Amino acid sequence: MTDLQVRKMRFAFADYPVPFNWNPSDPAFSLATNMLSFLFLAIEKMISATVHEVLPTITDPEIAEEALAFVRQEGQHSMAHRQHAKGLIKAYPALQETLDEIMAVYDDLTTTTSVKYRLAYIADLEATFTPTFSMMLNNADTLFAPGDDRVASLFLWHFVEEIEHRSSALIIYDAIVNDPWYRMRIAPQVFEHGGSVMVKAANSFNKHISLEERQVDATSIFGSELWKAALVKWFPPLRKYRRFAMSQYGPSNRIYSHIPLREQLAVAFGVMCSQLPRHNPAKQKLPPLATEWLARYEAGYDVTHWYTASSQAAQD
Ligand SMILES: [Fe+2]
Ligand SMILES: [Fe+2]
Repeated sequence: MTDLQVRKMRFAFADYPVPFNWNPSDPAFSLATNMLSFLFLAIEKMISATVHEVLPTITDPEIAEEALAFVRQEGQHSMAHRQHAKGLIKAYPALQETLDEIMAVYDDLTTTTSVKYRLAYIADLEATFTPTFSMMLNNADTLFAPGDDRVASLFLWHFVEEIEHRSSALIIYDAIVNDPWYRMRIAPQVFEHGGSVMVKAANSFNKHISLEERQVDATSIFGSELWKAALVKWFPPLRKYRRFAMSQYGPSNRIYSHIPLREQLAVAFGVMCSQLPRHNPAKQKLPPLATEWLARYEAGYDVTHWYTASSQAAQD
């Protein structure tokens, strides 16, 4: 029997405007999470189509139950991110174009690639979530706490459930494809594809959102512009060469710049290990905030207002 719970969450995105820079103390992370909301909508639609395509062929009832619970959790994530995206588009209508572009990429992937490839894509991607989202949860005090509580609570819930269902995609992949080497072989292709979608989204954010709102060059959040900024800092005359000219889209600001490099390298190592054929996600340790979140949810705490529920309850 699966342990997964399908939790329905609504985050009051329609109640008042949704800011683009929802955590003003960290514009690069705000931008990255907005991008993630759009990406999740597209990827989770592809996941739903792919898992429903193979569901009738899964003969083991326990695996079928796991697959159904997995895809239902993803469906709830999609619904909540749609509300977030809707709020952003209401405030910044041009973002509809960004969302359409990203949706089109994954719709195309769904119709033009084999189910085997998509199952491996999903398993590869989901395997990276536990190391990366654990780091974000371990740094929630700076990444989430100072921001809009609706956006923060949405991501905390989603990341906790991604860690909760960390084995599901691999269980489904093994039940249908059962070829750990194929999954590893296509990993570079999967990350190249995911990376190209993020670059597309970043360019679109630069085009549609004013610098005043986004504060940073959206393409710089992955760190690609940093070497240029460092060189120009040490050798200012380089500035006159076009190759070293600073971006017209604003200052460079890499995400996680305040998180110790050691911690980030450990995540990179975890991501690499997650692609190996013998990887077993069930063995990974739950970050303390995920354990706390699950306990608070069970106790009836309002997890849709993670940082403000206790102060609201005190006022009532
Ligand atoms: Fe999800
Ligand atoms: Fe997931």
